[in-house]
Amino acid sequence: MFGMRSAAVAVLGLAGYSYAGLIRMGCSQLNVQRIDPLVTPGQAPSPHMHQLIGGNSLNVTMDHATHDLPSLSTCTTCQAAEDFSNYWTAVLYFKARNGTYHRVSQLAPLGFEGQNAGMTVYYMTGQLADLNQTNKATAFKPGFRMFVGDINARTLEEALPYRQLTYTCLEEMSTRWPETKYLPTNPCKAGIMSNIRFPTCWDGVNLDSPNHMDHVSYPESGTFESQGPCPSTHPVHLPQLMYEVIWDTKPFNDPADWPEDGSQPFVWSFSDTTGYGTHGDYVFGWKGDALQQIIDEPCYVNCQTMKTQSIDQMNACTLKPQVVEDIDGWVKEIPGQNVGV
Ligand SMILES: *[C@@H]1O[C@H](CO)[C@@H](O)[C@H](O)[C@H]1NC(C)=O
Ligand SMILES: *[C@@H]1O[C@H](CO)[C@@H](O)[C@H](O)[C@H]1NC(C)=O
Ligand SMILES: *[C@@H]1O[C@H](CO)[C@@H](O)[C@H](O)[C@H]1NC(C)=O
Repeated sequence: MFGMRSAAVAVLGLAGYSYAGLIRMGCSQLNVQRIDPLVTPGQAPSPHMHQLIGGNSLNVTMDHATHDLPSLSTCTTCQAAEDFSNYWTAVLYFKARNGTYHRVSQLAPLGFEGQNAGMTVYYMTGQLADLNQTNKATAFKPGFRMFVGDINARTLEEALPYRQLTYTCLEEMSTRWPETKYLPTNPCKAGIMSNIRFPTCWDGVNLDSPNHMDHVSYPESGTFESQGPCPSTHPVHLPQLMYEVIWDTKPFNDPADWPEDGSQPFVWSFSDTTGYGTHGDYVFGWKGDALQQIIDEPCYVNCQTMKTQSIDQMNACTLKPQVVEDIDGWVKEIPGQNVGV
């Protein structure tokens, strides 16, 4: 456990920011399938492929008034044993020169070696300078969910409103800069990391909104990291939820397999080759006030109030996909995307 946590601190040091309060945890894969209980509830299959982690009450439909994640789940794939939230992103595919596609799987993060795929989840509760927690974060409420990004964005201009969705071309597993808004254009030795930082200001009233974004906002100026103030319309400070997803692009780095025109061969499961359409989904599901207690401790990675489970226990929590498709072989089309890109 200690080794795991000191690795976390070392990695974060490279990011250039420090936090007065921080949760960093690995979460292994729950499953990979075409469902999207937030954006297209009830649709199986949903329009594009996702990789999903967290509590095993995940379902095609998760009504915020009736689907109580902590009581319906019997296990979670996350290190925090009382976190039954669900977190998901699209899936990255590799397009070979012969026109067929292969899903790119995810790597376990540093300090969580042995974790089955999945991702790293952070809750940043305060900047280091804010030791007295003057900007103290309020935990999400039961039923809260949100989305960030624009799946249709294909230019930098369209992607800029979602200013903290980026990529890191990993030279090694601990590489944390530079970050780009577009998919890396050259082979990345250790993989491609996608970074998804959610908005950190809440209207204090709505658990969701029609586009799953209007009830939250980025700070009025600056960023969460610079302690930018929340706008008056969204006055409640939330922790900064962040995903790091490390795509194992290493098996696909042979230049002989890359396009002859010099373009890069990776494409999101929603047919985006630019990377500007990256997005993330979150359905809150911590048990009781477990998250608020950790925020109140406050703690930096080593959280006394966070009940944890082992990597073996995380990996043991899996859920049969409700939509069964070929997710491991070479395929002629990306599932659900009937036009090649
Ligand atoms: C998903 O929801 C359906 C309908 O409520 C239910 O029958 C099924 O057991 C649920 N599946 C899981 C994995 O919880
Ligand atoms: C296409 O290319 C990939 C990567 O080189 C290879 O593994 C696969 O077998 C090829 N598929 C076909 C149908 O040629
Ligand atoms: C924190 O609060 C203490 C006691 O109120 C005060 O002495 C100290 O200056 C504060 N520190 C910061 C960084 O604001």
